[in-house]
Amino acid sequence: MNETKKRKIQSLRGMNDILPGEAEFWNLFEEVVRDTLASYGYRPLRTPIVEATPLFSRAIGEVTDIVEKEMYSFIDSLNGEALTLRPEGTAGCVRAVIEHNLLAAGQRLYYMGPMFRHERPQKGRYRQFHQVGVESFGFAGPEIDAELILLCARLWDDLGLDGIELQINSLGQPEERAKHRAELIAWFERHAAALDEDAKRRLYTNPLRILDSKNPDLREIIASAPKLIDHLGAESRAHFDGVQQILSDMGLPFSVNPGLVRGLDYYNLTVFEWVTDRLGAQGTVCAGGRYDGLVESLGGRPTPACGFALGVERLLELVRAAGGEPQPMFPEVYLVHQGAAARRLAFRVAEGLRDGALDVMLDCAGGSFKAQMKRADASGARYAVIIGDDEAAAGEVTLKFLREEGVEQRRVAVDELADDLMGRILDSKEEE
Ligand code: HAM
Repeated sequence: MNETKKRKIQSLRGMNDILPGEAEFWNLFEEVVRDTLASYGYRPLRTPIVEATPLFSRAIGEVTDIVEKEMYSFIDSLNGEALTLRPEGTAGCVRAVIEHNLLAAGQRLYYMGPMFRHERPQKGRYRQFHQVGVESFGFAGPEIDAELILLCARLWDDLGLDGIELQINSLGQPEERAKHRAELIAWFERHAAALDEDAKRRLYTNPLRILDSKNPDLREIIASAPKLIDHLGAESRAHFDGVQQILSDMGLPFSVNPGLVRGLDYYNLTVFEWVTDRLGAQGTVCAGGRYDGLVESLGGRPTPACGFALGVERLLELVRAAGGEPQPMFPEVYLVHQGAAARRLAFRVAEGLRDGALDVMLDCAGGSFKAQMKRADASGARYAVIIGDDEAAAGEVTLKFLREEGVEQRRVAVDELADDLMGRILDSKEEE
């Protein structure tokens, strides 16, 4: 074989394997999330990872970082279709609810899974990352915005997290934004001499993004720039007041951040982000808001909508830092066997114990009893069940206690083994 053929193939930059140990942690996280979402009446939805490219350019907006430079897009070589690995889940979710006529009554939906963005990888920022997305359709009032935010707060609690702060803002309606945009352009034109290259480039394409600039030289000009929140009409104002009223009534602290503009174009009215200072630069763990125009712009009938997505990797990092690392899972029983008759019995015993709700690891690597016992010990199991031809002939097994000092191994009849083990496990749980 030549050298190139032999070289190991590595995972792609910014795309991570989630190994055993870590993956169990993910499963637990997902269980907590599912329980919390179910308690608010949200139902699961699964959509494809690949969608037609125009779905994302139309939904997220042509002049956004995601569409301009972060999408994994390609032409399907078999039929020439333009396709994209989903960079987020809202667009696909909206496509699906339109396609399957799910918009008749209100809908509360959620999804979990990988998303893809060609960003510069760093801690908390990956090219394949995972979101839990939560979307609601058909509710126009501020109640659902507030309920989604309260749902997040409960989730942080259920995950044992604190120190995640809520920022909210209102982006108003498109006409209000257009008026603000014109004033913003005029403001920055008046200060054109002080603008950096980035700000100049964005001035006429997306002036709102200049407000996001990290350049300290622009801080003062940005601080005194016209604020969208001052341009809200009475209805937008009332909606925003309504959201704040519910949050205050429920005792949930928040701050209004007029600089919160979001990186996707589909939002109107309420937007929010949950931010922590414990993760360094990538401190936003969850973000979302209202997108009342998106369903119609993707071909559905006008339907108000609101939702958010949380970053799984970032939240897991917080759970880990809070000491929430779960204990690794061990089998309760390791089954050691040698000889043909013993192997037959070993399979029957293992399945029988699993029927009785015990976790069993059956030795499949063979070798001497000694080698198998070494593996039994390394497996973390509490009990070894040993079957040789001797035991097989007698319809018995030898039960060895791997984690208890000074307890003698003993023979147990096959028929009594499940009850015997279950009794011991329940007793030891009671002692704990
Ligand atoms: P987003 O702000 O683009 O919104 O992403 C939501 C969250 O996903 C972020 O706050 C962050 O925690 C996580 N995230 C984003 N990019 C990365 C990355 N490269 N690596 C790790 N984590 C990342 C959306 O995607 C909208 N679809 C949210 C939404 C749903 N709005 C309404 N409904």
